[in-house]
Amino acid sequence: MKNLVILSGAGMSAESGIKTFRDTGGLWEDYSIEEVATPEGYAKNPELVIRFYNERRKQLKDVEPNVGHKILGELEQHFNVTVITQNVDNLHERGGSKNVIHLHGELIKVCSSRDPQNPKLVRELSEDEYDVKMGDLSEDGSQLRPFIVWFGEPVPKIEEALDIVRSADIFVIIGTSMNVYPAAGLLNYVPARAEIYLIDPHPVTVNTNRTIHVIAKGASEGMEELKKILGV
Ligand code: OAD
Repeated sequence: MKNLVILSGAGMSAESGIKTFRDTGGLWEDYSIEEVATPEGYAKNPELVIRFYNERRKQLKDVEPNVGHKILGELEQHFNVTVITQNVDNLHERGGSKNVIHLHGELIKVCSSRDPQNPKLVRELSEDEYDVKMGDLSEDGSQLRPFIVWFGEPVPKIEEALDIVRSADIFVIIGTSMNVYPAAGLLNYVPARAEIYLIDPHPVTVNTNRTIHVIAKGASEGMEELKKILGV
């Protein structure tokens, strides 16, 4: 089977009702990125940041994977699929994708605020634990914080993602403005033999001299079209 590698971003989940980042004027659900997606924002007001991610986590219970997520899940019958996502929601998994690399962390997990990237201190919450409180502690005694890779923090999964991208026969970019590095830079590691597709209803500026087949549609319709192009 051929290796199909996906790089997804917020637009992948837009049709499920989760807002993208840059389509809403730089605000994420009415908060600035600096407030809720940086270590400085967390240091300044941990309570607000914890509450913000509690709300995002709660939203997961109200949203469903869209047709795009589901088609991706189905493509596993025909390809070795790996999804590299910048999304912190769990809709790829719920849509049936088994190999998902979350570059920017996962909403359903928490970690230590003293040692956020220590894998031993990362824990998945059960649904009844979704509402994290100030005073809920990690095993090392520090406040539990959302397991999200914030701006300015290292992206530990990038190495694993690079290896996967290097093995791609088909590479599909979907629903990302390609603004955030190192995620956007993965495109530079796609082997010359691989076809590259980009699914997005709006024009995306991509920094490459490679040929990109653009499917100017939303995630669901775009995935339907990709399926036809791939002949499955
Ligand atoms: P952006 O909000 O920057 O880009 C979303 C992209 O989705 C845009 O190109 C839209 O045109 C596209 N889009 C909108 N509706 C769509 C639809 N129905 N189907 C498909 N595409 C659609 O989001 P990202 O590129 O994911 O980081 O942003 C990257 C990172 O920046 C995020 O992971 C987050 C953010 O700040 C962290 O939280 C660390």
